[in-house]
Amino acid sequence: ENHMQEKLPLRDKRVVITAGPTYEAIDPVRFIGNHSSGTMGAELALRAADLGAAVDLILGPSALKVQHELVTVHNVVSGDDMYEAVHKVYEQCDIAIASAAVADYKPAHVAEEKIKKNDDTFTIHLVKTKDILASMGEKKKGQFLVGFALETQNEEENALKKLKKKNLDAIVLNSLRDKGAGFKTKTNKITFIDKDGSITPYDLKSKKEVAEDIFDQILIKTT
Ligand code: CTP
Ligand code: CA
Repeated sequence: ENHMQEKLPLRDKRVVITAGPTYEAIDPVRFIGNHSSGTMGAELALRAADLGAAVDLILGPSALKVQHELVTVHNVVSGDDMYEAVHKVYEQCDIAIASAAVADYKPAHVAEEKIKKNDDTFTIHLVKTKDILASMGEKKKGQFLVGFALETQNEEENALKKLKKKNLDAIVLNSLRDKGAGFKTKTNKITFIDKDGSITPYDLKSKKEVAEDIFDQILIKTT
């Protein structure tokens, strides 16, 4: 054992992170998805690992390669897959962060064959997906649970509502108001809100730096 390792604040801790989009199949060749790149979640995973934690990164379809001795990547496709993968590791973890952009709805039925073009209009019946983060909140036994919120109106109020509803310890409000924040960018502008309602706004910065800010907050609240 070297001395560096002993000083790391998340040594002996397990961290679970969800990241990336989900793909909800329509037929064998089509899906409903979104533009999430998974970058924010990957940066969170690397930061947690650099702090000494053993990390399970549950990653939806993404081109990202996340390489760190302490990070195990679990590649998943759909929201249902992500739910299963999360609950295999969630009970044993100390800190969990949900940064995935999980599809809110999925096709009620997946066609077995490629759907042929026929009428001028075509309707896909959608049903709600499982709320993975809410299920983590329900099963919480001492884990420090952090969610993300993407809001376009009454941002802080809605984020705090989400925190309460899903039984979270903190929520990271992702502001889309600033150009340069969000899905297709290398930067994010966040506000960290904890369950006591204390609100910390941050400047627009790289997702790597945002990951550092988020773990600084988590460390204050857990140690
Ligand atoms: N989330 C999840 N499973 C879902 C939907 C959302 O785990 N099926 C998580 C996201 O990873 C995020 C948080 O819940 O951490 C909030 O996601 P968001 O899309 O902002 O909120 P929703 O609860 O889906 O509500 P809405 O989209 O209507 O605002
Ligand atoms: Ca949603």
